[in-house]
Amino acid sequence: MTDAASAFAPVSTLRDRAYALAHTARSVPPYIGLAALFPGGPVPFTALPVTLKEAYAFHKKLLARPGFRQLLTKLEREDLLTLPAMLAATPLDLLRIRRKFHSGTVRLSVAAPDDFPYPDYYLNDFHNQKNGNLSLQSALTYEWQISILFMGCNRLMRQAVIDHIPTGRELQILDVACGTASWIPQARLQGRHHPITAIDLSPAYLRYARMAQALGFRDNATFLQLNAESLQPAGQPADAWRERFDIVTCIWLLHELPRRAIERAVAEMARVLKPGGRLLLVDSMQRSDIPVDRRERAERVYRFFARYFNEPYYLAYQNLDVPALLQAQGLTVEINEPWFRSKLWVATKRA
Ligand SMILES: C[S@@+](CC[C@H](N)C(=O)[O-])C[C@H]1O[C@@H](n2cnc3c(N)ncnc32)[C@H](O)[C@@H]1O
Repeated sequence: MTDAASAFAPVSTLRDRAYALAHTARSVPPYIGLAALFPGGPVPFTALPVTLKEAYAFHKKLLARPGFRQLLTKLEREDLLTLPAMLAATPLDLLRIRRKFHSGTVRLSVAAPDDFPYPDYYLNDFHNQKNGNLSLQSALTYEWQISILFMGCNRLMRQAVIDHIPTGRELQILDVACGTASWIPQARLQGRHHPITAIDLSPAYLRYARMAQALGFRDNATFLQLNAESLQPAGQPADAWRERFDIVTCIWLLHELPRRAIERAVAEMARVLKPGGRLLLVDSMQRSDIPVDRRERAERVYRFFARYFNEPYYLAYQNLDVPALLQAQGLTVEINEPWFRSKLWVATKRA
């Protein structure tokens, strides 16, 4: 560090702290609003101080990396494009969800937009979104919703995957259940320019990803509609992707699947990896990650989350032995570590 830079270091640290505080705290008003609207489920409200403290600490940790605040600021410009959709959709959404709970309904089936063979478990209004993952409204509002849910840590948790992608030589990457593929610009801005094939079941999320690509936010990526349980691209031989990818990434998919679908998806991810290739898996933290004295309260939060966010497989996922599943597919688990409300598994396919 030059003398001038070191003289300004305390100012920069203070600026990072202020940013971390503001970035964390901006989720508090929506939490209070939700607690008021859904008085039957005050548990997340009582857990709010702990979540706030941990979110702030997590922000501070990542903002200690040079340039991370500037990176987040750049990435969040994309959110401004979807802010009008979020503001327009939220009041009507909240009224709709309140009506749903007053009528005692937990799960609504949704209409498929095309004749793609969607699995039954997918045709559900996940996260209480209008037409589940299949509506453009849900794609447009998704990043805002998870930003509120995770107190601004949505992109910070995705960093777990990016940290394990090397820069340099071109690697073939497959992203499974890409959603709107928000992690791609985050990776690009940090020098990971590898070609990415990204798949998802939702035509609406893929449409959003392609729109973002047209605006310059997702270069060198190909988006395909596929089921994670069957990684067979249309029009190609059945085994076209066997051992094709150096890296497979998958962020926040497993907790949305029933057990048999999780097993098939993991088997497929292992199949398409080259020997020696790596699977980078991020998903929700689990029961075993919570200190024993906080588990009872955490379990109440999980039950609340599963019901109020309509996550029918989340409670089963809480006890899922992910390393055992990975090992059963010939993968060696090298890393299993928490990232705020998520965790990262890094597993290598035996050569
Ligand atoms: C919680 S979102 C995660 C999206 C994204 N990975 C991210 O970083 O935000 C879950 C995604 O999984 C997709 N999905 C669910 N079941 C799937 C399946 N069987 N095959 C492919 N995608 C699936 C949904 O459409 C949705 O986009």
